Amino acid sequence: MQNALQQLRKIPGMLFDESLAKHTTFQVGGPASFFLSSNDVTTISQAVRLARAAELPVASLGGGSNVLVADAGFPGLIIHLDSTRCDVREDGTIDADAGTVLSRVVRTAIGKNFTGIEFAVGIPGSFGGALAGNAGTGGHGIAEYATSVTYLDAQGEVRTCAKADLDVSYRYTRFKYTETDIILSGTLQLTTGSPTEIQARVKEVVERRGWQPKGAWCAGCAFKNPANNHAGKLIDQAGLKGKKIGGAMVSPEHANFIVNTGTATAEDIVILISYVKQQVRDQLGVQLEEEVRYLGFAPSN
Ligand code: EPU
Repeated sequence: MQNALQQLRKIPGMLFDESLAKHTTFQVGGPASFFLSSNDVTTISQAVRLARAAELPVASLGGGSNVLVADAGFPGLIIHLDSTRCDVREDGTIDADAGTVLSRVVRTAIGKNFTGIEFAVGIPGSFGGALAGNAGTGGHGIAEYATSVTYLDAQGEVRTCAKADLDVSYRYTRFKYTETDIILSGTLQLTTGSPTEIQARVKEVVERRGWQPKGAWCAGCAFKNPANNHAGKLIDQAGLKGKKIGGAMVSPEHANFIVNTGTATAEDIVILISYVKQQVRDQLGVQLEEEVRYLGFAPSN
């Protein structure tokens, strides 16, 4: 174990006590004991094996746009894929590395007149993170279009998960909460569409996002939409727009956004999330569920 720790420290590019606040769009969270940003699968695999041998937890962090990191940080190894391949074929297949920004995958598809993922225009973050959390808008999610996902398993072996095993549902795939499997790349299957219709859909998606807070430190929508309802509408109805706890605030613009006003701690955000859930449950009888992923918190969170 001691030997594994020593070898882990020697992995090229390894960072120690790296602040995770600067790697998340909430801009909060403590340090990761080990942080490796790499596009080399062999190096990443070796780091994962060594961390396991040293009995350290391992997790991946993509664009950091849908995650809340604990103030205490992460007492293990964080893997950040910085590979950016995005290959598109004439049959509408897009094969991209997990580290590629989602917006590039979406722009590439649209540029080739492939249709399906226009709903994802404007969603921040990495392709890998978007696949893991089935990022989307309304009823659609990016993982619906995935035909396969390649990942590193807990032992550092490269594996492929076929669509049938992705376990896709609303803002969820089997990779969303796992801290053992790390997505390396994914393949989407799209179809050819009419350029005019694609552009019309893009325009509509951009307009629908118009009133969301811009440039705010947040993680997109904090809560999933309950069946046949909207979390933002419910939080608004409960009178919580502008509600502040410490430096965390329910956005006065769109109530499903919890923003860091500049001084928030992860604890402020957790308390505000819990307060919002309690108020919506007590006032309106609806149980909200977080869309954001927690990292570095005790399992009870
Ligand atoms: N509403 C309010 N007050 C608010 C916010 C919303 O009354 O403060 C009402 C609106 O008037 C509207 C309804 O709630 O009648 C829905 O609002 P919106 O069109 O903004 O859609 P949403 O369901 O809140 C979803 C996605 C967003 C996505 C938008 C636009 C979820 C959880 N949210 O929001 O995705 O950008 O549609 O397409 O699915 C995200 O997932 O991170 C995200 C931001």
